Amino acid sequence: MVAVMFYDLGMVTAKTAKRVIYLDALLFLGAGVIGTGHHWYWIGQTTFSMALSSVFSAMEVVPLILLTLDASAFMRLTRGVQGLAGGKDYLPHRWTFYFLISVGVWNFVGAGVFGFLINTPIVSYYEVGTTLTPNHGHAAFMGVFGMLAMAFVVFALRQVSDEAHWKRIEKWVRLSYWGMNIGLGGMVVLSIFPVGVLQLSDVLRNGYWHARSAAFMDRPVVSALEYLRLPADLAFIIVGVLPLLAAVVSTYFHARKPGPGEARPGRAS
Ligand code: HEM
Repeated sequence: MVAVMFYDLGMVTAKTAKRVIYLDALLFLGAGVIGTGHHWYWIGQTTFSMALSSVFSAMEVVPLILLTLDASAFMRLTRGVQGLAGGKDYLPHRWTFYFLISVGVWNFVGAGVFGFLINTPIVSYYEVGTTLTPNHGHAAFMGVFGMLAMAFVVFALRQVSDEAHWKRIEKWVRLSYWGMNIGLGGMVVLSIFPVGVLQLSDVLRNGYWHARSAAFMDRPVVSALEYLRLPADLAFIIVGVLPLLAAVVSTYFHARKPGPGEARPGRAS
């Protein structure tokens, strides 16, 4: 979907988009299916299937990273052209593009770095069920699929807005973009990742049972880190979600009228 969208926005060539889609299909079918085995390492698989799951799941992040690198190179090029043209706005779908770039960045950080971190069976043996799992889950799930959904929402908003309406709501979309990214980053950096690291070290020192008991969760440093999620969650909701919701509601009432021969917004042509 990211490849199709980048292509629609004129940011990657058809060749690049197709190459990535084929690579992705190959990796999903050839590697991803086996890779999902990282979710059930401990149900009595053989060592061989554990090793396969671990190696193949590590390859899943590759195509999206290639695509994002390609698109951001395009963006740099466009900025150069924009500079030469005296700052004329060449990218009406700029915020869709930025949300798609977020998909690539979170894919790298959330799925790539945080997924890799817990992916090898020897780490997973100690880590599974600790806060490092939701650390990866939040960064990869909201970061990749959540931001992708936001990119689609913003794309649709821009398509059905005329210039005047878009000027009114663009600042909300901008705010929402930063609120969501900073909020999600804050949740991870301020809270779930450090708690996960402390919990993993507690597993190694005192055993898994201890790291999941009140003896660990009630430690003042752990409670303090859990409370640190609050500002990040609030930023995500208040600065991230609400402005976009406002933009959606406002656009519902101010969508531009379809031109002659154009389908009504929301209906297939
Ligand atoms: C966008 C892609 C991805 C998403 C949305 C995603 C999401 C998730 C979620 C929600 C969980 C928690 C599942 C549960 O609690 O049962 C999880 C677990 C896991 N993921 Fe991912 N993931 C992605 C990619 C990856 C990749 C590329 C790797 C490997 C490099 C990976 C490695 C793992 C492992 C090892 C677990 C199990 C951890 C445990 O049970 O403690 N994930 N993932």
